[in-house]
Amino acid sequence: MPGIRRAPGRGYTLSPRQTVLALKNALRYVPPALHEATAPEFLAELRERGRIYGYRFRPQPETTTHAGDRARDAGAWADGDGNIKARPIDEYGGILEARALQLNIDNNLDFAVALYPYELVTYGETGQVFQNWMQYRLVKQYLEQMTETQTLVVASGHPVGLFPTHRDAPRVINTNGLMVGEFDNPADFHEAAQLGVANYGQMTAGGWMYIGPQGIVHGTYLTLLNAGRLYLGIPPDHDLAGVLYVSSGMGGMSGAQPKAADIAGAVSIVAEVDLSRIETRREQGWVQRVTSDLGQAFSWAAAARAARNSLSVAYHGNVVDLWQYAVDHDARIELASDQTSCHAAYEGGYVPQGLGFEAARALLVADPGEFRRLVDKSLRTQIELIGKMAARGTHFWDYGNSFLKAVFEAGVYEVAANGADTKEGFVYPSYVEHIMGPLCFDRGYGPFRWVCCSLDPADLAATDAAAMGCIDPDRCWQDRDNFNWVRDAEKNRLVVGSQARILYSDAEGRVHIALAFNDLVRRGKIGPVVIGRDHHDVSGTDSPYRETSNIRDGSNVMADMAFHCWAGNAARGMTLVVASNGGGVGIGRAINTGFGLVLDGSERVDAIIRSAVEWDVMGGVARRAWARNEGALETAAAWNAAQAAGDSASGVSAAGGEFPRGAASARAAAQAPGHITLPHPVDDELLEEIAHGE
Ligand SMILES: NC(=O)c1ccc[n+]([C@@H]2O[C@H](COP(=O)([O-])OP(=O)(O)OC[C@H]3O[C@@H](n4cnc5c(N)ncnc54)[C@H](O)[C@@H]3O)[C@@H](O)[C@H]2O)c1
Repeated sequence: MPGIRRAPGRGYTLSPRQTVLALKNALRYVPPALHEATAPEFLAELRERGRIYGYRFRPQPETTTHAGDRARDAGAWADGDGNIKARPIDEYGGILEARALQLNIDNNLDFAVALYPYELVTYGETGQVFQNWMQYRLVKQYLEQMTETQTLVVASGHPVGLFPTHRDAPRVINTNGLMVGEFDNPADFHEAAQLGVANYGQMTAGGWMYIGPQGIVHGTYLTLLNAGRLYLGIPPDHDLAGVLYVSSGMGGMSGAQPKAADIAGAVSIVAEVDLSRIETRREQGWVQRVTSDLGQAFSWAAAARAARNSLSVAYHGNVVDLWQYAVDHDARIELASDQTSCHAAYEGGYVPQGLGFEAARALLVADPGEFRRLVDKSLRTQIELIGKMAARGTHFWDYGNSFLKAVFEAGVYEVAANGADTKEGFVYPSYVEHIMGPLCFDRGYGPFRWVCCSLDPADLAATDAAAMGCIDPDRCWQDRDNFNWVRDAEKNRLVVGSQARILYSDAEGRVHIALAFNDLVRRGKIGPVVIGRDHHDVSGTDSPYRETSNIRDGSNVMADMAFHCWAGNAARGMTLVVASNGGGVGIGRAINTGFGLVLDGSERVDAIIRSAVEWDVMGGVARRAWARNEGALETAAAWNAAQAAGDSASGVSAAGGEFPRGAASARAAAQAPGHITLPHPVDDELLEEIAHGE
């Protein structure tokens, strides 16, 4: 389909022996009668793209048969334009849960949602739903066939098989790119991906729960607001009027920045080298103005700043040029970050200064070594310019895209906090370290989300209203921000793809909201709903450069929390559980986990919500409390007290939208109480005396 972005070649580096192995691996999915025709195609894909995607197995544009029926193949549809997109749940085959998951898979591949739909990439440059189209088809087939007592096991997109389990087991257990320690590095992953045995699932791409850039708008909005409060002393009840935010990237997640800045009342200039991505966001109304003239961009910004109006400007060009302009013209920039895909900088995620978008792609294929050299040079220039602006008062933070790590690897060792390695962080904070960690995650607040499977906007409006009824805006500023967010969500036109919503909420809030939705489903007010969350949350991700960057007891290099979150959710009956390597920061740098739970209106699901949704948050709060994080200590202690007192969320009904908010726990009356292990305080002076004899 013309106009649809295609992934760059990922680099073909296999030996002749490995090439044969890669072909043999891919042909496992294909009946032998087709091997002669298919093998040369696969070989060409591998050589040209560094991957075998199996394009011929992508569903063809929908045709109509003589009988007027649509030609379909095991739930694998594309419309007349060749687009695959979420369809109302009733149009899928299979049990309810399997239909809901198919809807989510298709949403991840929608032309309007996915970054490179033909290469199965949803977002984050390399985040794939599956490795290839054969896997897509097979998974679809299994989902159509599965019963309520079977579990589909998926490993890096490959459906290992359908295994007998029981009603309360997950219907899908999914992993992406989990590697054995010694081989858990980008080079070995690249080889494994070429061989067709490893998928880079990012978070909700391979986790089948991406909801378009909206998912990230809310988090970016909260980050910007709180950066303003923290760094600029803006009061909690004010917005960012008169503040300029500068950044880069208008891709899958980064494209949320202008919109989030608009909602927060700020002025923003975001650099993007790929005009097609700017156009996508402009068509969606997510960025207001576009220019390739930096003088124009800054003069628009100055006028909007003076009038205290929000304004978002896309600068079509390289972010390093933007920084150079700011330094040369002594621009006043209060807040700044970077969202180029530096987790995959050498794979095309970062375009070096001096190269246009297309030229960068060509060089990546023609001379990967030279491309790498230019990336490093550009990163060194960029950090130097950022340093100059920081000295003039700009507050810069790393946006979890491995930007500072990439700068370090480009040879700028002084960017590390200890000047030697990156274990203790960097001289600029990560947004989680300063903002989202202490203010949200430690207190259990994170990006809860849901998809209305009817795809009816009226269902989304009903769930928005029910969610609002579960939030008391006067309880704390976090709840006020979240209440405002969901109150204005429809007005802000955030939906891209399926009818979905994101809403930051804490453990108690998420349980209440999920129970309210399930009650609406039970009473036939709305169709089925899938709840889930971003993996970028309280408990779901162990990542020292991001989600766990504010863990300071040395356990930031451990991945125990994420795996416990995953296993605990499986044990408690979530519909889908997924664990993936990498996420937004790159292979070997994070383990991230997520879930999906289909709300069918049953009391069975009420029970799963009570135990699983609460666990999904409190497991991480417990770990954060053990690391002595202040907000987590308070939240865990309150939870312990509520458990001991036997508090439970009673009288849950979406009818009036009113929920009791006093109870810190949603424990059902029949459940035995839980308890979180809390650390004893340690006297630092005493330790100093003993350890150093002072
Ligand atoms: N938004 C968030 O809250 C968030 C959170 C965590 C991590 N991230 C990270 O942010 C990064 C971006 O995510 P994404 O989904 O938007 O990826 P993406 O690849 O879709 O978008 C990145 C964009 O940056 C552009 N770009 C690359 N080099 C550039 C340069 N030198 N100047 C200007 N533009 C340039 C690319 O053309 C691309 O459109 C990833 O590393 C992701 O993991 C984002």
